[in-house]
Amino acid sequence: MENRNNDNRFVKSFRHSAPYIHAHRDRTVVLVFGGEAVASQGFADLVHDIALLHSLGIRLVLIHGVRPQVEARLEATGAIIEYARGLRITDDDALACVKEAAGTVRMEIEALLSMGLANTPMSGACIGVTSGNFVTARPLGVRDGIDYCHTGEVRRIDTAAIRQHLAERRIVLLSPIGYSPTGEIFNLSAGEVATAVASGLHADKLIFMTEGHTLRDNRRRRIYQLTLQDAKSLLHSRRRLDDSTRKCLHHAIQACSSGVRRVHLLDRNTDGVLLLELFTRDGHGTLITAETYEGLRPANIDDVGGILELIKPLEDEGILVRRSRELLEIEISHFLVIERDGTIIGCAALYPSKDEKLAELACLAVHPDYHNAGRGAALLQSVEARAWQEGIEKLVVLTTRTAHWFRERGFLAGNMGDLPAGKKALYNYKRNAKVYYKSLH
Ligand SMILES: CC(C)(COP(=O)(O)OP(=O)(O)OC[C@H]1O[C@@H](n2cnc3c(N)ncnc32)[C@H](O)[C@@H]1OP(=O)(O)O)[C@@H](O)C(=O)NCCC(=O)NCCS
Repeated sequence: MENRNNDNRFVKSFRHSAPYIHAHRDRTVVLVFGGEAVASQGFADLVHDIALLHSLGIRLVLIHGVRPQVEARLEATGAIIEYARGLRITDDDALACVKEAAGTVRMEIEALLSMGLANTPMSGACIGVTSGNFVTARPLGVRDGIDYCHTGEVRRIDTAAIRQHLAERRIVLLSPIGYSPTGEIFNLSAGEVATAVASGLHADKLIFMTEGHTLRDNRRRRIYQLTLQDAKSLLHSRRRLDDSTRKCLHHAIQACSSGVRRVHLLDRNTDGVLLLELFTRDGHGTLITAETYEGLRPANIDDVGGILELIKPLEDEGILVRRSRELLEIEISHFLVIERDGTIIGCAALYPSKDEKLAELACLAVHPDYHNAGRGAALLQSVEARAWQEGIEKLVVLTTRTAHWFRERGFLAGNMGDLPAGKKALYNYKRNAKVYYKSLH
């Protein structure tokens, strides 16, 4: 019995992951982790998860840090470690340590990715890994009177070469090191390299594996998602953020502003966090999304007029149930809208029922000029995310003409019994709408 339950659970969760597996195939993901992750006990597991992503067809660029490894080497030689503005001043001794540490860490990662022992998660893996001179650097130079010596900044990324290796199904592994046309070596920040690579490649995702710095709101709840604007406001707000989170947010804003669609901040201490983030609905970190020319957001009272204008023709046709302005004003907090250049072009509402685990999705509409571009799906996804966050386990919808649209998105035909009690009492038999439901576990 126990085994059968486990089997069922496995099958269910594997099936739930299927849409994400399809969605991520052939996508380009840039993943950056610090030297702390490399030195940690769970690093082999992280590498196994990376290998799994590779085997699912995700194009991966990995960037590793070396800070603790360099510090350990410098300490061992009794050298003084100097930082200015959070950047290491890389003198000749430090550069020697950086070279040694970067070489060692890179080899350790390559070795882990080359494993293929039977009875390990890497059995049968056979992964090609490429490193090389993809990053051109220049010196930071002298700033405010401080000479940063061999500490550099990114000047150029050879994106064409990286793309070629990714197309050949190889993982590209980069150290925080760059070379200058004068033949010198520069120590770079791994975050900066990752941001430049992700921006240059217009990567689908840039993932920061942080040292446990989860973004939380004022009530200590995890922040699931930030728009580019939210991220900027947070960075410039008076909220106390640790240095590392500040840097990540700064890089995320830079990346989102230069063509990276999504940036994820994940706590690398959580076992399997990459898999949770990429293959479950709710993810496990904070997602920062690039701003678009239009936005999907919770509605406010100023949107009532726009929503009424959008849904009026659909009400007239009997596709949507009629709502008065007064009712809409009362219920506005249930709505999400898509606003484009000041016009409401899409909306959807989530009505939780008294039974807290059940909610109704209603009033889903996209302006006909903007059909067939995924906006309906985006609204549905946001409603589902909101429902999930509110602990709702089942969504129901009443529809007269859109049944197939819902069926194609995981809804199943139901009956009156699936409706919340209050809704049953109000059911309009003349409309003869069909009931569909979707489980959100
Ligand atoms: C249903 C609706 C919200 C979809 O919006 P959208 O932004 O066009 O949706 P998407 O772009 O995510 O999906 C488009 C896909 O759905 C299909 N589709 C659209 N309406 C459909 C319907 N009534 N039945 C089945 N499929 C439908 C399109 O053909 C397209 O499929 P394709 O990509 O394979 O060609 C929009 O058509 C609408 O506002 N309809 C009127 C209101 C309505 O019926 N609301 C639901 C009642 S609660």
